[in-house]
Amino acid sequence: MSARVVVLISGAGSNAAALLDAAAEPGYGATVVAVGADRRGAGGLALAQEAGVETFTVPFADYGDRGEWNAALSERLDAYRPDLVVSAGFMRIIGAEVLARHTVVNIHPALLPAFPGAHAVRDALAYGVKVTGATAHFADSGVDTGPVIDQVAVRVEPGDDTASLHERIKSVERRMLVDVVGRLAREGWSVQDRQVSLGGPGIRQSPSTEYVAEENR
Ligand code: GAR
Repeated sequence: MSARVVVLISGAGSNAAALLDAAAEPGYGATVVAVGADRRGAGGLALAQEAGVETFTVPFADYGDRGEWNAALSERLDAYRPDLVVSAGFMRIIGAEVLARHTVVNIHPALLPAFPGAHAVRDALAYGVKVTGATAHFADSGVDTGPVIDQVAVRVEPGDDTASLHERIKSVERRMLVDVVGRLAREGWSVQDRQVSLGGPGIRQSPSTEYVAEENR
C-alpha cells in the first residue's frame, strides 16, 4: 500500500517536483495523488500536469473570507482522501477545519522556532545569523509552530543575498522533504509532547486521519 499524498504549493514548486520524482520510484511508499495551489498559474501545477498528476486550484480571491476559502480547501482535500497533505511552499495559513481532518506536513526555510512567517530567509539574513536551514514540521493552528519532524542546517556565506541563500536552502530542503515524506509513509509516526518519532508502534496522537504504515498496522 502506498500513502496518498496531496501537495499544496503557491509558486515554482521545486519541492513538489522533487516529491513527484521520488514518488515515481518503486518502493518509495507514497503516491502524489494531486497537486493544489492557491493561485492559477503557479509554476508547480504545470510540472504536476507533465507528470500526469491531477491538479486543482483554490484561489483565495474567489472566496468571500478566510473561512469560506478554508472550507473550499477542506472539501477539495477530502475528495482525494489523502493520508498526508504536504504544504511545500504554500504561502497561506491552513485553517483549523483542514487541520482537524488532515495531517499536514509543512516545510519552512529556517531553523524553527527561529524566523517563522513568510520572509524567513530575508529575516535570517537581516538578523546576521551564520547558520540557518530548513525545517519539516507537522502543521498546527499557529504560524510555523507545530512539532518538528526534521531539520537541516545551512551556513550563511559572505556576500549571500536572499536569493542565493534561499537557493542553497532549497537544495537541502528538497532532500529532507523527500526523506521525511518517504519515512512517514513507510514507517508511520507518533507525536508525544511535541516529540515526533518515526516508526515504532505507529500510533498517531494527532492529526486526524487513520494512516499508519502497513507494517505497523
Ligand atoms: C520553500 O523554500 C519553502 O520552504 C518556502 O517556500 C519555498 C517554496 O519553494 N515556504 C515558506 O516560506 C513558507 N513559510 P518551491 O515553490 O520552489 O518549492
